[in-house]
Formats: sequence, structure tokens, C-alpha cells
Amino acid sequence: MLVSAKEMLTKAKAGKYAVGQFNINNLEWTKAILQTAQELNSPVILGVSEGAGKYMCGYKTVVGMVNGMLEELNITVPVALHLDHGSFEGAKACINAGFSSIMFDGSHYPIEENIDKTTQLVHACNILGLSLEAEVGSIGGEEDGVVGAGECADPDECKMVADLGVTMLAAGIGNIHGKYPDNWAGLSFETLEAIQAKTGDMPLVLHGGTGIPEDMIKKAISLGVAKINVNTECQLSFQEATRKYIEEGKDQQGKGFDPRKLLAPGAEAIKATVKEKMELFGSVGKA
Ligand code: 13P
Repeated sequence: MLVSAKEMLTKAKAGKYAVGQFNINNLEWTKAILQTAQELNSPVILGVSEGAGKYMCGYKTVVGMVNGMLEELNITVPVALHLDHGSFEGAKACINAGFSSIMFDGSHYPIEENIDKTTQLVHACNILGLSLEAEVGSIGGEEDGVVGAGECADPDECKMVADLGVTMLAAGIGNIHGKYPDNWAGLSFETLEAIQAKTGDMPLVLHGGTGIPEDMIKKAISLGVAKINVNTECQLSFQEATRKYIEEGKDQQGKGFDPRKLLAPGAEAIKATVKEKMELFGSVGKA
């Protein structure tokens, strides 16, 4: 059964580790992530962007697929199905479809409007027992056509939004989605420390987990980050393994064209990436 992310993140924050959010794109992705979480006895959050939701034939299809897998694969570790960077409408649609966790990204609105919309969703999620992630200070890079500037969030605004009763808070600290450019300045730990000082027990969320050096990840966790989002890195692992399979001509040997064979190396590569991240984040054995 899907669970809210509240309990797993409260435990992670208290235990100084982070739970990974891995974004899903299709059946292979979902299966690979769930199997790895189960094998490592780790809690996990499956992230679904609005674009990926559309690609997978809508939120109801995603909920049906994930619930089916939890049962058929005998998944017993805590799993949250989470809308990633949701709009207000997208959030409502996912609540209705049966997601167990929602992110409302109001970071591009003026703070008053972000607060107003987030407040409405806090009420809805509380009634239904869902976890809610809010965002302050937009995360840079491009995701589903939305380009953020990679801001550092204002700690006072973070406190205002945390006090609304959200479950977890994503705050920009110089992180961006996708690969980091060579001239990236790194995470702003000064900002993170200031946010952590104002928001106390609130689990903080680090977006753009792909390509952040290990020491920065560890330091971020030590400063209150309890959820780390990873998307691009699984895509790159899948791409690299699939390219290798084709370049070695394996798709042309025997039944190598069968999608169950063709997509297998990519799925194995996703598993390896997820394992590496869970070990780095410290969530192994914490289910
Ligand atoms: P990356 O694609 O950079 O790993 O970011 C993922 C993310 O933050 C999803 O919200």
C-alpha cells in the first residue's frame, strides 16, 4: 500500500539520512526502483512530473501500475507516490487519482500567492492523510519546459511556508535540475544553514540530485536535508547501457530485438544508480 512520505521523512531528518525521490518514466523505471528499494530495505519516493504523468497515460494509469507492482512484487518497504513540481490543477488531479504525496511548486508566484495556494492544499492533504511538499526559491535548470533561475531562497519566506503545515520544504540553495555546468558555484550551505535554523524539524528537500558531488550531498544531509530528488542520472544510466547494447549489435543477435531483452541492460543500470544513491543518502536498511 502506498504511504504518505511524512513518517519516512520525519525519521530521516531525526536519523540524519535522506530518502531518495527517483522519478519514473515507464514500467521498467518503476519496477527497477521498487525492486532496488526492497532489496536494500530502504524507504523510497517515486516522483512523477506532470509531463511524465501525461506520457504514462495519465495519473490514474500511474496509480494503477504502481499499486499493481506493490502487490505483485511483494513490496513491503514504505513507498510514496509523489507528484513532482505540480501545478495547483495538477495537485488536485493527483489527489483525486490516488497519489499518496503531492508537491505544489508555487515558487514562481509572488510569495503571497504561493502561500495562499499552498494553504489550500495543506487543508486538502491533511484531511486525506497525504504528504505535501512546498517550494520557495525556484530550482534552476529546465524541467518540462519550466526554466528556473537557480535562486537561493529567502530563509524568512521558507519559515512562513513551513509554518503553513506542509510536510517537507524544497528551498533553492543554488541547485539546478539536469547536469551542472562547469562553472557551477556549488550549493550555498550558508543559505541552507539559515533555512534550517528558521525551520527546525521540517525535512528539507534537495532537488537536482544529479551530479552533486558526494561531499556536498553529505554536508547537505548534515544540515537538515532529508529528501533528495534524482531524475537525470537514471536517464543517463539507462541511455548509456542501451547504447552499449545496440552498439555491440546485441539487438541483432537471436531474440535480442525482444523489448524484454532490449530494455534489460538499461533497467539494470537504473538499479545500480538507485543503489549507489541509496547507499550515499544513508537510507539502506531504514525501511
Ligand atoms: P535531476 O534531474 O537533476 O536529478 O533533478 C531531479 C529533480 O529535482 C526532480 O524534481
